[in-house]
Amino acid sequence: MVIGFCGSGSMAAAMARGLADPSRSLLFTDSGSGRAAQLATELGGEAVASNGELAERADVVVLAVKPARLEEAAADLTAASVIVSLLGATSLERLEAAFPDTDVVRVMPNVGVEVGKGVLCVTGSAHAGARALLQELGHVVELPDDQFDAATAVMGCAPAYVALAVEAIADAGAADGLDADLARELVVETTAGTAELLKSHSPAVVRKAVASPGGSTEAGLEALDREGAREAFEAAVRASLERMRG
Ligand SMILES: NC(=O)c1ccc[n+]([C@@H]2O[C@H](COP(=O)([O-])OP(=O)(O)OC[C@H]3O[C@@H](n4cnc5c(N)ncnc54)[C@H](OP(=O)(O)O)[C@@H]3O)[C@@H](O)[C@H]2O)c1
Repeated sequence: MVIGFCGSGSMAAAMARGLADPSRSLLFTDSGSGRAAQLATELGGEAVASNGELAERADVVVLAVKPARLEEAAADLTAASVIVSLLGATSLERLEAAFPDTDVVRVMPNVGVEVGKGVLCVTGSAHAGARALLQELGHVVELPDDQFDAATAVMGCAPAYVALAVEAIADAGAADGLDADLARELVVETTAGTAELLKSHSPAVVRKAVASPGGSTEAGLEALDREGAREAFEAAVRASLERMRG
């Protein structure tokens, strides 16, 4: 299978790394930065000269440009047989208008796709080949188009919030004398284990299991409450949504 990436930025790179496999050819374009060639070199793919050539040669085109570049890219991609759009805050209706003769799948992935552990919200065409690819990249959730912005605010942006929490906890550990790399390792592995637990237990149950009455975790949770941690996360999700809705 030939997968063409129109755009070779952060999200294209994460997805291409997740899909790289000797049985596939990966093609890339950019708007002149050279990132297409860099990715092609890293993953054994090919930077092609134009979006038109990409559309001609690819079985699936992943549209990974900034939303403002939709119409410009679409004009070059008329030969594509299926488009998988990663564009944030860009409705299926707008995508279908930009690609009137092509199957379009709207996807909101997060960076976990790079390691096959992403979350991918999906709507649009039932194109089997495109959807099978997405299944390889992580947890796929079928979502109505009008819920994509709200979902993006919690799953598209959240890897950055979780990374911030990991960094802050590890930095606090290092400030108390732990080796900085060890502190990060401890917190990263703790985060991975906690994520597994949270698949089968509610957050409240996990919190209660760790925070025995009068214990040190309870003191930590009280400090987080006092410092407004919950409100800070709520504000982050709201701010992301407001930015998306322009
Ligand atoms: N980053 C995330 O976590 C994330 C998550 C979900 C969805 N998304 C969505 O994914 C899309 C890309 O985001 P990003 O963070 O990867 O952006 P990015 O790093 O800025 O990458 C955009 C890429 O598009 C290329 N480009 C621009 N115009 C082009 C054209 N006409 N033809 C071919 N390539 C063109 C750019 O080329 P140059 O390299 O030459 O500048 C660049 O390689 C956005 O729509 C965003 O909403 C991102």
